[in-house]
Amino acid sequence: MKEVKKGLEGVVALDSQISFIDGVKGILKYRGIEIEKLSDLSYDAVSFLLIHGKLPNAEELENYSLELRNERRINRRLLDILNFCDFENESMDALRTAISVCAHFDEDSHNISKEANIRKTTRLVARFPTIVAAFYRLANGMEIVDPDPSLAHGANFLYMLRGKRPTEIEAEAMEKDFILSAEHELNPSTFALRITASTLSDLHSAIISGLCTLKGPLHGGARKGVMEMLDEIGSKDNIKPYIQERLEKKQRIMGFGHRVYKTYDPRALVYKEIVRKVAVEKGDSHWFDLAEQIESTMYQEFVENRNKPIYPNIDFYSGVLYKDLGIPSYLATSIFAIGRVSGWIAHCLEQYADNRVIRPRAHFV
Ligand code: ACO
Repeated sequence: MKEVKKGLEGVVALDSQISFIDGVKGILKYRGIEIEKLSDLSYDAVSFLLIHGKLPNAEELENYSLELRNERRINRRLLDILNFCDFENESMDALRTAISVCAHFDEDSHNISKEANIRKTTRLVARFPTIVAAFYRLANGMEIVDPDPSLAHGANFLYMLRGKRPTEIEAEAMEKDFILSAEHELNPSTFALRITASTLSDLHSAIISGLCTLKGPLHGGARKGVMEMLDEIGSKDNIKPYIQERLEKKQRIMGFGHRVYKTYDPRALVYKEIVRKVAVEKGDSHWFDLAEQIESTMYQEFVENRNKPIYPNIDFYSGVLYKDLGIPSYLATSIFAIGRVSGWIAHCLEQYADNRVIRPRAHFV
């Protein structure tokens, strides 16, 4: 048996045409296009790109957007089930339950043909935001807000969440959030769902594997951890003691470090500018200033004591953005999933198209 790579670090598990990462130069491309360029498009266009392998032309985009907008509503029975969810708990548990319930109502549920998967894609991408917003409103004793077909993916989500239309800058921030979160090669949740798809299990089941894996605090759950950390630190005076105490205890600081990026996560750079813009519009830069100071303190600590820098990952400034948008931390991971579902589905389609069951070996000791 060859050498075991703990955590499969550096192991190349499969060929993929979906995204490209250069972890040393800090480059991320979806289907050959830099994330910085994609973040100026609509989520619908980027979702189409991930699923179909090319950017849509004007007609394709119009059709896909229309299909998504027509599929946003969720049915009464699903809302009744969401009402039984544990509102003390974070929304990932509710989202996981809801996607499982959606499978029961989906006539294509067990059909894994390309055509059926494309039909299910539209329904899944369209309904993730509606489910998360509905969970939030039920948890807070508020009436459900129906989706507004005149609004884009990000703006509509904020509208369903708050019951009022977001400002242009808030809408832009949410749209970019979904785009930046949409895809990231063989991260843990994507790998988990490719394994599920490789057994020829269906799309909903694969997505549920992804959701369960994204939830962990070392993966998508770090976004929630960042928001809790910001609350706990509260003011600049507390940054250094907070960080030093945790590092001494060998604990992780959420939103920092990455398995692949050895430099600044390119997504975090785009997020940082969005957060700056939202803070300027609000006329309140408390969270942004605190975050910048946490970033520089972490950098200094690592350079001085470990001889290597550490940089924020995607979850750091996205957590800050959610604070500025007034989003509670228990929604953070499920909002990440709203964006990520397009990338997840692209990976499932790629797996089904050229499948071999994923089954590595263990070294018996
Ligand atoms: N806080 C403190 N120390 C850290 C952090 C951190 N956030 N990240 C890495 N380190 C240190 C480790 O303690 C380790 O030190 P050592 O060599 O002295 O033992 C070294 O840096 C290397 O860390 P590893 O855990 O080996 O790196 P790995 O590639 O396994 O982990 C991970 C990457 C899980 C992202 C890690 O950086 C981490 O735990 N970060 C905090 C959680 C987080 O933000 N997760 C989100 C990642 S992005 C995403 O999944 C969407």
